[in-house]
Amino acid sequence: MSDTPELTHRPEWTALEDHRAEELRHLQLRDLFAADPGRAERYTVSVGELRIDYSKHLITDETLALLQELATATDVFGLRDAMLRGEKINVTEQRAVLHTALRAPRDAVVEVDGEDVVPAVHAVLDKMADFSERVRSGEWTGHTGKRIRNVVNIGIGGSDLGPAMAYEALRAFTERSLTVRFVSNVDGADLHEVLRDLDPAETLFIVASKTFTTIETITNATSARSWLLAGLDDGGEKAVAKHFVALSTNAEKVADFGIDTANMFEFWDWVGGRYSYDSAIGLSLMIAIGPDRFHEMLDGFHLVDEHFRTAPAAGNAPLLLGLLGVWYGSFLGAQSHAVLPYSHYLSKFTAYLQQLDMESNGKSVDRAGNPVQWQTGPVVWGTPGTNGQHAYYQLLHQGTKVIPADLIGFVNPVDELSPELKGQHDLLMANLFAQGQALAFGRTSDEVRAEGVPQEQVPHRTFRGNHPTTTILASELTPSVLGQLIALYEHKVFVQGAIWNIDSFDQWGVELGKVLAKRVEPALTDGADAPGLDPSTAALVAAYRTLRKK
Ligand code: F6P
Repeated sequence: MSDTPELTHRPEWTALEDHRAEELRHLQLRDLFAADPGRAERYTVSVGELRIDYSKHLITDETLALLQELATATDVFGLRDAMLRGEKINVTEQRAVLHTALRAPRDAVVEVDGEDVVPAVHAVLDKMADFSERVRSGEWTGHTGKRIRNVVNIGIGGSDLGPAMAYEALRAFTERSLTVRFVSNVDGADLHEVLRDLDPAETLFIVASKTFTTIETITNATSARSWLLAGLDDGGEKAVAKHFVALSTNAEKVADFGIDTANMFEFWDWVGGRYSYDSAIGLSLMIAIGPDRFHEMLDGFHLVDEHFRTAPAAGNAPLLLGLLGVWYGSFLGAQSHAVLPYSHYLSKFTAYLQQLDMESNGKSVDRAGNPVQWQTGPVVWGTPGTNGQHAYYQLLHQGTKVIPADLIGFVNPVDELSPELKGQHDLLMANLFAQGQALAFGRTSDEVRAEGVPQEQVPHRTFRGNHPTTTILASELTPSVLGQLIALYEHKVFVQGAIWNIDSFDQWGVELGKVLAKRVEPALTDGADAPGLDPSTAALVAAYRTLRKK
């Protein structure tokens, strides 16, 4: 049992509950802005190139002060410093949590178990850079001597979502003569669709798996190897060495699979899967954008790491965003959090954040193993605007749920768009600004009536507003800005886990399904008995076997 006081019994927690009961009932964003013309400016924080406006939140100065007191009482910065010092704050796996070391400059010193890990980080980055340049220049060829034109990353979870998201985000910076594709699903359709128009002689597979035991990845990689060998006339195992590289912490398993460990790019157990795309797991991205751009991205991460490490609490952006999440989740009953990027290039951003946030903070016991008596991580969801506006925004505007949302946009479109397409950008951003305004301030029934709307329709056309949003603006979606954004969210998730006193760095919740799938599979494939199935699942398995085509 933990000897720290139960979170909900802390005076700082009950002070927030009282504050909510006393102040929140009547709190209207319209009134808050009317009373304080400087609110937008006061509640905007800048970090790096990110301008973060959190003025459209259901908060006052007192709310922020009370939340800061909760952060102090729960020693968020103490845990932050322990993380940065390489202490094993992932308590259930007894591991350090040092994704920040992945973007530390060459001359930094970060120790794990008394050993400085920065030289090893940079040695791998250099090896990745060398390999990337060889692929990009055509010096690294396939088995038949043909130039590599297609890169296929095979991985899942953190070994897929990060590089896939970042590749999409930074498309405008990629080498367009190369195609980079991502396979994750164990559904054979995924690999089939990715490979169907590719020439094996021109295809490089990157097998990305921290553990190198993940069944989906190993299964897809095995099928990809068969496809390659079948497609190369004079194939043989030597071809594998020219067409397969591995990204992993597990050299033994990489060798067992048949990949030469000289072609392995290493990372370490102190890098969590969902925090890993700036490690070797980013190799596909580095091939696509080149080492210089990749380093710009790392610098962007590092800039926000330094801000999180050094900025005072009142202006510490990840702390503020984390506290707002705690406010809505633990005190205002929000079950979910929408992330709505107004950038087509960020189409995979929310899916990436789902793993980052939900795998980190989807926990129901505290760090000592006691059941928590408070809400933990939210459901994270969302898709790029403006598409969402014509789908689910109705519920955001007029539904009954509390859903804080992040609106993310860029002042400038990417350079390579034609002038005509660049011209569309103002319309895109007008939508972002309009949504933030409509959500916050709505439209009162008096305003609706004044427009001549018949009385019976007034309730339907009234928007109560008061829906909270954070707006994150940057000049352009560059590699550095992407790094800044991701680090911002990483540390926000950290802050929330620290306050909720949960281990944000393990993921035991994904294990049970894996174990059961292994038990069920033989029953589907060979008709073997699957012991221990409940009646519902047993009936489903029987139906599957009856309907399965022979
Ligand atoms: O099952 C969840 C998980 O362990 C994630 O945390 C991880 O990102 C993913 O699987 C892939 O794991 P690996 O990189 O070891 O294949």
